[in-house]
Amino acid sequence: MDIQSTIKKLERELNEALVSVDKIEALQDVKAAFVGKKSELSGLMRHMKDIPNEEKPAFGQTINAAKQRFNTMIESRKKAIQAKRLARKLEQEKIDVTLPAPDFTRGAQHVLTRITESLEDLFIGMGYLVKEGPEIETDELNFEKLNLPKDHPARDMQDSFYISDETLLRTHTSPVQVRTMLEYGGTKPVKIICPGTVYRRDDDDATHSHQFMQVEGLVVDKDTTLSDLKGTLLALARHLFGEDRKIRLRPSYFPFTEPSFEVDVTCAGCDGAGCATCKQTGYIEILGAGMVHNNVLEAAGYDSTQYQGFAFGVGVERLAMLKYGIDDIRHFYTNDVRFLSQFKGELS
Ligand code: DAH
Repeated sequence: MDIQSTIKKLERELNEALVSVDKIEALQDVKAAFVGKKSELSGLMRHMKDIPNEEKPAFGQTINAAKQRFNTMIESRKKAIQAKRLARKLEQEKIDVTLPAPDFTRGAQHVLTRITESLEDLFIGMGYLVKEGPEIETDELNFEKLNLPKDHPARDMQDSFYISDETLLRTHTSPVQVRTMLEYGGTKPVKIICPGTVYRRDDDDATHSHQFMQVEGLVVDKDTTLSDLKGTLLALARHLFGEDRKIRLRPSYFPFTEPSFEVDVTCAGCDGAGCATCKQTGYIEILGAGMVHNNVLEAAGYDSTQYQGFAFGVGVERLAMLKYGIDDIRHFYTNDVRFLSQFKGELS
């Protein structure tokens, strides 16, 4: 048997087979047929016994060398098939980066969140901490420690959702004042704002909502004065309504402050001259404030002969309505995207 010519013949056949193969799976079959255990090439080894001893090594080497060559041929075909497959895949998955991007709607923060966070930024810049408290509150913290004992007539100002005799949905963010003073133990100065949701047993209409948001402010220290309060509220008014705004304080009543004020800002529509928005008064009421009542300081463990404080509470919906000319508080809670999407980008 002429082993060389058999190998040559096999090599030719392998070459032909490889040319027509273009799938990896089919290539595996070719590999099995030409170098596998049952291949003709492997079969040649069985002739070893017929070979004279001195030729045996050369015979074996010839077959092994052929096997190696065949394997290399198969391997390089494999690489070629893979490269072709990758090229085809890349071609199919080509992305046209010049195509216009699909339009998608970008969401934005709720207008109430934007106002709240903007106030937080302002006050953090003035050295305040942001404090939060629970929405389910005790009667004691929501009322009693704020100088509103049970049966106090001023409780009528805030119709409440009671959960039990002693717990309710907080009617204002003022209990966070008490919580913080108690936490500080009557020894440290306090400088906080407290944003949050509050609840009142009101019938919903254009200006009333049973749920709304407030931001409370409290400063307690040994030299806190009414002029500090005025300056702070002026900064708040100008931050939200423009640098030209002025404010005025009108005497009012809150059980937790003495003296108490209603605070007005000059109308941005007419700059104080009088127009329909401000009902010809030139001013618009924006919040309630005052000097912390001695009873409130004492109930929270602060010595009222040493410490004074000021406080204020502002409704976030009211601020937003004034700032943007929104005429119905219910818009904030109906989540109509046509309404919400108007408030995007920088707060201005
Ligand atoms: N808690 C009051 C309310 O909900 C608002 C308020 C008024 C808060 C005066 C204060 C304040 O801290 O000093 O109507």
